[in-house]
Amino acid sequence: MKQPLTASPSARLSGRIRVPGDKSISHRALILGALSTGTTRIKGLLEAEDVLATAKAVEALGAAVERSNGEVAVQGQGVGGLRAPSAPLDFGNSGTGSRLMLGVVAGHDMQVEFTGDASLRRRPMGRVLAPLAAMGLETDADEDHATLPLVVRGTGDLLPIVYDLPVPSAQVKSAVLLAGLHAPGRTTVVEPVAARDHTERMLGYFGAELCVEDRGAGARAVTICGDGELHGAHVAVPGDLSSAAFVIAAALITPGSDIVIENVLLNPTRGGFIETLREMGAHIEVLDRREQGGEPVGDLRIRTNALKGVRVPPERAPSMIDEYPVLACLAAFAEGETRMEGLSELKVKESDRLAATAAGLTACGVSARVEGDDLVVEGRGEVTGGVPVETHMDHRIAMAFLTLGLGARKPVTVDDVSMIGTSFPDFMTVMTRLGAKFS
Ligand code: S3P
Repeated sequence: MKQPLTASPSARLSGRIRVPGDKSISHRALILGALSTGTTRIKGLLEAEDVLATAKAVEALGAAVERSNGEVAVQGQGVGGLRAPSAPLDFGNSGTGSRLMLGVVAGHDMQVEFTGDASLRRRPMGRVLAPLAAMGLETDADEDHATLPLVVRGTGDLLPIVYDLPVPSAQVKSAVLLAGLHAPGRTTVVEPVAARDHTERMLGYFGAELCVEDRGAGARAVTICGDGELHGAHVAVPGDLSSAAFVIAAALITPGSDIVIENVLLNPTRGGFIETLREMGAHIEVLDRREQGGEPVGDLRIRTNALKGVRVPPERAPSMIDEYPVLACLAAFAEGETRMEGLSELKVKESDRLAATAAGLTACGVSARVEGDDLVVEGRGEVTGGVPVETHMDHRIAMAFLTLGLGARKPVTVDDVSMIGTSFPDFMTVMTRLGAKFS
């Protein structure tokens, strides 16, 4: 059943908070833990539905996952050591879990059915199946239109490949690298623009042989040497910048706010949102920049200040792909036009985020339009609100428009907040602690 929620214009936000663990890193810690020898101990794992679905999947494949004293322990089965599950693997809403695990299953001689919720069953899987099929994964799906549910058969005999990514996708890159871990020889993924690099970083941290070559103009080639071993490790998951993005935006548009978000992931391949905010004139201070388990982290201090519209170039999209809905909402409070270019990938997320964001903004009285693959928002320094917004089963659309409601002149109601549990179950609690008003 749908759970609507209303965000009302709020007084200044203040205080220090933490956001939950990074979703991308949490999935990868569970998966690499399952593929290692020995035990992997994870601190700060994101305990949200998407990641719990991946935890259930690795358990169903034979790697026990236990929670004790605030840590999660994964009993690794070694590279190629997983066993066939007795039932279909259900990834719920999670594109990352399902696509990365297709890469893992590809390297095992077993047949597995993958399934998910209504949103995930609409998302394209051919982008992962194409390279995996070239390596030896069998499937009866039509690669051009493949969607879940899907039955695949992996093999203990994968072929290494060199793969030029047709779309800048960390999920596809990661699926091929995880399959490459199970193939003899060297598997290379060439990416046109660097997408998030947590898989490469974590594979290196767990002991895989891997090299990254700069190919100029932002392109990179990542090569993994297969048939090696991974060793269980300790992972401390930093706070998710994609979740922090809503809190940052809320502080920027709620007059007089001054907040600190502690322990946020500051990986440069995820840095597009903060870079863009700075270009818009936001004052964002990074305090105590440090290194944690192979990833840069820091505390962010944000104070409200006037923003101006900017052009966001297409090559920046991979480094802030999940932040566009909230950036577009924020752009409505800036002065002038914000043009976000090259957003075709937004159409195949948990919903068509390009259409959903433009429709929600238009409903709230903002002049917003889609031009080809670009999203254009005319900022007027204020937003009317006072309307219901449709979330289309999409957690980030729900959180973006609740954030907008905190700064709008009239309350904004989103039709369903149940999906927020897939990535940021504490969203309402964290925001309320800072002074946000929901009802
Ligand atoms: C993710 C990659 C991105 C992102 C998703 C998480 C990951 O998807 O949108 O939320 O953890 O690899 P694509 O790789 O499809 O762009």
